[in-house]
Amino acid sequence: MTVSRRAVLTGGAVAGLGTAAAAGYLAAAPAATPSVAAVPVADFQDIGTGIIPFHGERQSGITDEPPAHGSFVALTLAKGTDRAALGRMMRLLTDDAVRLTRGEPALGDTDAELARHPARLTVTFGFGPGLYRAAGLESPVADLPVFSIDRLQDRWSGGDLVMQICADDALTVTHTQRMLIKDARPFGAVRWVQRGFRRSAGVHKAGFTQRNVFGQLDGTANPKDAEMAAAVWNADHSTQLVVRRVRTDIETWDLLSVGDKENSTGRRMESGAPLTGEAEHDEPDFERTDSTGLPVMPNFSHVTRAHVTDPKLKILRRPFNYDEAPDAQGRPDSGLVFASYQADIVRQYLPIQRRLAEKDLLNEWTTPIGSAVFAVPPGCAEGGWIGERVLA
Ligand code: HEM
Repeated sequence: MTVSRRAVLTGGAVAGLGTAAAAGYLAAAPAATPSVAAVPVADFQDIGTGIIPFHGERQSGITDEPPAHGSFVALTLAKGTDRAALGRMMRLLTDDAVRLTRGEPALGDTDAELARHPARLTVTFGFGPGLYRAAGLESPVADLPVFSIDRLQDRWSGGDLVMQICADDALTVTHTQRMLIKDARPFGAVRWVQRGFRRSAGVHKAGFTQRNVFGQLDGTANPKDAEMAAAVWNADHSTQLVVRRVRTDIETWDLLSVGDKENSTGRRMESGAPLTGEAEHDEPDFERTDSTGLPVMPNFSHVTRAHVTDPKLKILRRPFNYDEAPDAQGRPDSGLVFASYQADIVRQYLPIQRRLAEKDLLNEWTTPIGSAVFAVPPGCAEGGWIGERVLA
């Protein structure tokens, strides 16, 4: 059956369907018979019981595949929280994280049942410049400068301690967040919480590049396997975290043609391939010009400006989408809780961010509204605690 777009939208061909259903029909119409394979229930249970080990030389939640849900909780330390108090706080929070990531309730857990499905739960702790000040120590990280593109709001910026809580289940994240905040309360106040999401577990095969709220494949050029060590980890197994809240203007992005979207990024919307290539992981060729002599990868495309070849200068992007309630006119409040891990923010992140702030076509549709930096201490062995080498 052929159905014209007009017939669908005027309801003639699919009378009784809502607009959304009609639009879905329209999109699905040309495709072959959809394949909906039944997934055994056991697979879902596996997702619920998945465990990522908490203990180790390095903290978890960094180079492991990001799960479906992430929450970043930043605290402002209470006045007078000194080095000894920080040690007590980190012992307590580490103990909570150890238990919860194993699928066991935290001490004094009032909803023990909610702890039973860790769903690949990770809790990663980062120390902001203020924590080092409180401890009387020199901070390895400093706030980023304010860039011309920034429209930063205090409510999404700064923080003395961050807890990055990730799992394949939103209720697990919620429960863990509540337990950690309860135990952190004597030491500080919640400064901001940023929650985000990616595709649910099982929607894609592991390792598949995810799409962001703009519909782009996001994560293609991330460091892989052997590159990870140089990009992310210092010799002492510490790393550094940047969290930027970047609002995306989806309403104006929607007005662009696919070609314009591709030029702003330098990659194809459908395949993620660079404009000079065929497949997602083809290397972009920044020298290639078209028949008019212009570079095929536009000079100001996001990828052209952000591109890094030296593995020691790459950053590991681990962003989550956010999508809060739209305003009364239905305009989305969406974007990325952009998180990146790198061994050294000044050496790796700053030059990229400077280039993007100076010129990046994508800036037209994106606005940084929050910014925070954290040093991420090494992991710990059983019986130890996160931050022991910094604060003990
Ligand atoms: C809403 C904000 C952003 C969006 C929608 C976005 C989107 C993208 C997309 C679609 C790609 C190409 C595919 C890929 O390699 O992942 C990309 C690449 C990249 N982005 Fe972003 N990005 C954003 C913000 C940022 C920020 C804040 C930075 C760091 C300052 C950044 C750094 C990079 C880097 C380093 C690459 C890889 C470039 C390469 O070597 O090819 N992005 N981004």
